[in-house]
Amino acid sequence: MQRTHKATLIPGDGIGPSISEAAVAIMEATGVVIQWEVCHAGLAAIAAGKDPLPKETSDSVDRTGVVLKGPITTPVGGGYKSVNVSMRLKWNLYANVRPCVSFEGLKTPFPNTNIVVVRENTEGLYTGQEMYVDPDKRAAIVVACNTRSAMDRVCSYTFDWARKNNRKKVTCIHKANILKIFSGIFLESFREVAANHPDIMAEEKIIDAACMELVKKPHTYDVIVTTNLFGDIISDLTAGLVGGLGVAPGANYGDKVSMFEAIHGSAPDIAGKGIANPISLVLAGAMMLRHIGEDDAAANVDQAVRAVIKEGKYLTPDLLAGSQYGTADITKAIIDKLN
Ligand code: NAI
Repeated sequence: MQRTHKATLIPGDGIGPSISEAAVAIMEATGVVIQWEVCHAGLAAIAAGKDPLPKETSDSVDRTGVVLKGPITTPVGGGYKSVNVSMRLKWNLYANVRPCVSFEGLKTPFPNTNIVVVRENTEGLYTGQEMYVDPDKRAAIVVACNTRSAMDRVCSYTFDWARKNNRKKVTCIHKANILKIFSGIFLESFREVAANHPDIMAEEKIIDAACMELVKKPHTYDVIVTTNLFGDIISDLTAGLVGGLGVAPGANYGDKVSMFEAIHGSAPDIAGKGIANPISLVLAGAMMLRHIGEDDAAANVDQAVRAVIKEGKYLTPDLLAGSQYGTADITKAIIDKLN
């Protein structure tokens, strides 16, 4: 008998609603039945006179434990705290997994890239505790925190993930040469966890050297584990290696809740134009399908996306300069390629 899954859908801001609509249409076209609880957060919630993360949205996430989320706008410099960061902290979504795999048909200088970045998602510089230290606001400090328990947890998650997914090597990206204690405890965790996984090669790289290598010989990287801010930056870099933010998905895993999202933002510069590329969120949807046990449907979505990119016809302008096709066209093309 067909199972009915429950999930929370947060369409998001800017291009969020249009790419969410595309992702849901494609996921449902696989035949998987999902009862969506549609909730708002960010600007959409504020526009309705609510908090950026309203109680009914939190209640829904607690109920379903599975979230598909469009990008949410975060004001720069002031305004409310990032809803994305708040959600990751509230539900302890400690492992942010971002696969960056080359697509046949998308021309990049690095055709054989297959890198998965696992970013520690709850600590580091993302504690949100920052302040000016003088009345003239000419100096500021931030309190960053790394705990051994969170570092152990993300390193264990990464090695287990690598083993389960038949990957050969995990690279720890750190800055323990300068931040000897703060980054050092992450490296200590990595070494301890690596010693318990002798079947997987363990490698250590300092962040600056790693960035240079990632753009010169990305094929030498397999799985990367790193701390919060480094992971934020490196995963955009690795997305760039395979075609850009529009094609790289992200999943945030915790023990009780998992949240699937595009790695890009709300793209206000193209919102409402009908040209947003939905693929990042569609592939995040495939990760969600795998998470809820719908492996065949997930593989079906992955292959349909790859087939559309390989065909190269119905691509959005971010993938094909001058393209006349938009979100609705590529969505239909992906649905047409489903088995
Ligand atoms: P952005 O990722 O929204 O846009 C950067 C550039 O990439 C823009 O030129 C945009 O048009 C393009 N782009 C992004 N996604 C695209 C897509 N699917 N199709 C075609 N083009 C695409 O980054 P930006 O402008 O720095 O941030 C905008 C807002 O998004 C900010 O408020 C930021 O805080 C928020 N944001 C939210 C995230 C989330 O919800 N997980 C992640 C990153 C940013």
